[in-house]
Amino acid sequence: MVNAIQRATTYVPKGGVGKTTSTAHIAVSAHNDHGLDTLLIDLAGTQNDLATQFGLADDVRDPDAPISAVFSENWSFIRENIDNVFERMVFETDEGPDLIPADNGLGAEDNNLANVPRENRYDRLERFITDEVAPRYDLVLLDLPGKEDNITINGLFAAENVIAPLKPGEFERKQLENLQRELAAIRDDGDHDAQPMLQLVFATMVDSTTNLADEFTNVLAEEYPKISGPPISESANIGNEQANGRTLFALSDDELYDTGRRAREAYRQLTTSLLERLEAR
Ligand SMILES: Nc1ncnc2c1ncn2[C@@H]1O[C@H](COP(=O)(O)OP(=O)(O)O)[C@@H](O)[C@H]1O
Ligand SMILES: [Mg+2]
Repeated sequence: MVNAIQRATTYVPKGGVGKTTSTAHIAVSAHNDHGLDTLLIDLAGTQNDLATQFGLADDVRDPDAPISAVFSENWSFIRENIDNVFERMVFETDEGPDLIPADNGLGAEDNNLANVPRENRYDRLERFITDEVAPRYDLVLLDLPGKEDNITINGLFAAENVIAPLKPGEFERKQLENLQRELAAIRDDGDHDAQPMLQLVFATMVDSTTNLADEFTNVLAEEYPKISGPPISESANIGNEQANGRTLFALSDDELYDTGRRAREAYRQLTTSLLERLEAR
């Protein structure tokens, strides 16, 4: 098969649930444990962005080939006239995956897309991935904004496979139902053939000393038996290592707390399940 790249995106229409952290850890596990050439594309661009997670915040500050250009009217001109434009977008991390960072132009491109006819609005990232990413990588993972905007819908169309990390709490089940409804509405919209599906759900920042977390994990397993995975423990290692520009995979066992080792192992299992789901699709 020519275009056998696997694609997935984290998405929950909410911030602070562990989307960026999960995207990074799943990417590193896919690279380390499954030998996949993996590209991360950051379309979320918030404070805790993927560049910071990998210690690249200073390097990516003013990219000369920003990902936002892919969403603009000028993209085909840029692609044809700027040498090595794709290579100039990509940064190598120390942990295996490559990264295309977010840039400040994404907000403006989101606004511009609102003026583009619907049938030309949502396929821009899909075309970029097919033309530029698929020939070079085995797996592409996206990190999307925590709200449904035009960039997000481009991401859902392009990736089709959705990973939903959820922080346990009383509204999370409702959110998952809303997310399912949102994806169904996108699938049913007749203008296109994109079929975004939920492929992996799991609890994040789980405090193992409370029942709430256990209950929530059990509910997920019951309601989503095929796509639910192990919970990620709350661990101080995660934030500390993000501040150092690393994931948990960059540390040895004895440098981690129990919680950190558990979180890392759960991310490994989640990655294996995700890749099985992607293969099966
Ligand atoms: N398992 C975890 N344990 C402790 N802190 C976590 C964990 N996962 C994420 N965090 C922290 O929670 C915050 C939000 O996580 P982040 O991945 O940025 O969420 P999102 O991308 O959904 O906004 C960050 O400060 C991150 O360091
Ligand atoms: Mg984020």
